[in-house]
Amino acid sequence: MSQPFLQMRNIRKRFGAVEALKGVTLEAHAGEALALIGANGAGKSTLMNVLGGVYAPDEGDILLGGQTARLHSPLEAERSGIAFVHQEMAMLPTMSVADNLFISHFPTQMGRIKRTEVLDACRAALQRLGCTFDPRVRVGDLSPGDQQMVEIARAIMTDPKIIIFDEPTSSLTSREKQRLFDVIGALKRAGTVIIYISHFLDEAFALCERAVVLRNGETVGGGMMGDLTYARVVELMIGAQNASADREQQTRQPGAVALQVEGLRREGVLRDLRFSLHKGEVVGLWGLLGSGRSELLRSLVGLDPIDGGMLRIAVNGELRALPPGEARRWMGIVTENRRDDGLLLPMPVKTNMSIANLPELIGRIYPFVDGRREASVSQTYVERLKIKIADLRQPVRTLSGGNQQKVIVGRWLQKAPLVYLMDEPTRGLDVGAKAEIRAIISELAEAGAALLVVSSDIDEIMSISDRYLVLNRGRLVAEFPRGASKNELMAAAAGVGT
Ligand SMILES: Nc1ncnc2c1ncn2[C@@H]1O[C@H](COP(=O)(O)OP(=O)(O)OP(=O)(O)O)[C@@H](O)[C@H]1O
Ligand SMILES: [Mg+2]
Repeated sequence: MSQPFLQMRNIRKRFGAVEALKGVTLEAHAGEALALIGANGAGKSTLMNVLGGVYAPDEGDILLGGQTARLHSPLEAERSGIAFVHQEMAMLPTMSVADNLFISHFPTQMGRIKRTEVLDACRAALQRLGCTFDPRVRVGDLSPGDQQMVEIARAIMTDPKIIIFDEPTSSLTSREKQRLFDVIGALKRAGTVIIYISHFLDEAFALCERAVVLRNGETVGGGMMGDLTYARVVELMIGAQNASADREQQTRQPGAVALQVEGLRREGVLRDLRFSLHKGEVVGLWGLLGSGRSELLRSLVGLDPIDGGMLRIAVNGELRALPPGEARRWMGIVTENRRDDGLLLPMPVKTNMSIANLPELIGRIYPFVDGRREASVSQTYVERLKIKIADLRQPVRTLSGGNQQKVIVGRWLQKAPLVYLMDEPTRGLDVGAKAEIRAIISELAEAGAALLVVSSDIDEIMSISDRYLVLNRGRLVAEFPRGASKNELMAAAAGVGT
């Protein structure tokens, strides 16, 4: 085989007491896609941040085309032909698509380039991805999937030699995903190195030629995709002894009504929604992107405004009518966008976990937060959810993407509300953690909570729910009992037969 274009040798990176990378070695050839696989907190994003010039390694070399590369800043990395599609959105939502696409690449040329040329270049880049929206719209006004496409457009516009994709598909629809995969195919044929990070192992198997598996900051294996199996990769990732499987879901008997939604509406988004959630049941909410799934969850707790409707919530065994803002006391929400709505990034893990529960933690005699209790309660959930941290006082910003997601879930477990609303609760989690969260969802229902869960993973929705509700353009168009088929749900969501 030819000489690898990219060589990362013995890369070490330490953050205080945490040794995130303990001498990682990785090679990739021109025109191949390399899957970078590992559990939450294994060091994937850190390794790519080193390649992308975001972090300086403590030790180790990076060679591009056989030459030692200087990658001391993201700009230097970009000039060396490295583009990075980040795990978390890195664009400015109040700026236009065109400005976001250009500002990072050509800041000094901005004044000299004609506006029309900029717009044409943006349209061309977006068209390669099959996007038809106008580059003058604000990024914040686009759907999460389209925002992600803009990030990808920004990466491919520079004609890089290496493109890093850090979980690029977690907010894409299946059509957008297919377009991304086509573009990756074309990039490979043009000789680009692709480094692909995803917790969806089927994507890694479909797209990549080779894999490198990291565990706790070390390379533990890899090889040609054709020589690996799904089971072998999982074993490398989490260790044979830890591989936990999804347990078979028991049939549950739902109890009394916990939440009744009557005529919830919001102009153009939610149309006269009526449904109930019962204690002890998991209801899966299915619908296409843009059908109003997240908006429904958000309006139930008053995060989004509504134009009408009422909630009844079971308080001491009696249904009480309450506007969403007040009903929120009995509800917990895991939002889709953990960075904007969910987490206080500079604050410690323990504060982020206890914030929903503060009244409980304020001492009876002294009116301030009981720090020791806060820590001990948080520690329990850190262990239960296997959240990988060095210290409870560590800012949540320094956790890996998947571990940040677990902190939000832990927050609501602490509060133990009557109704849980969960928007993509397993997004960004590794295969083991996904199974653990699904088991927790079951346990919560068995303990008597009512859960409404949104997931874009149809298999996940099918397996965890006792009942399915289907949304289409803000309207509830169907309800199915457990045992319904995937096709029935998909057809209802697409508006077939309505
Ligand atoms: N800035 C930082 N300060 C302190 N620790 C950090 C920092 N960045 C990362 N870490 C730690 O380094 C380890 C590796 O994190 P990294 O983000 O690379 O994981 P990952 O493999 O990308 O996981 P995920 O699949 O959850 O995204 C984690 O323990 C994380 O908490
Ligand atoms: Mg990561």
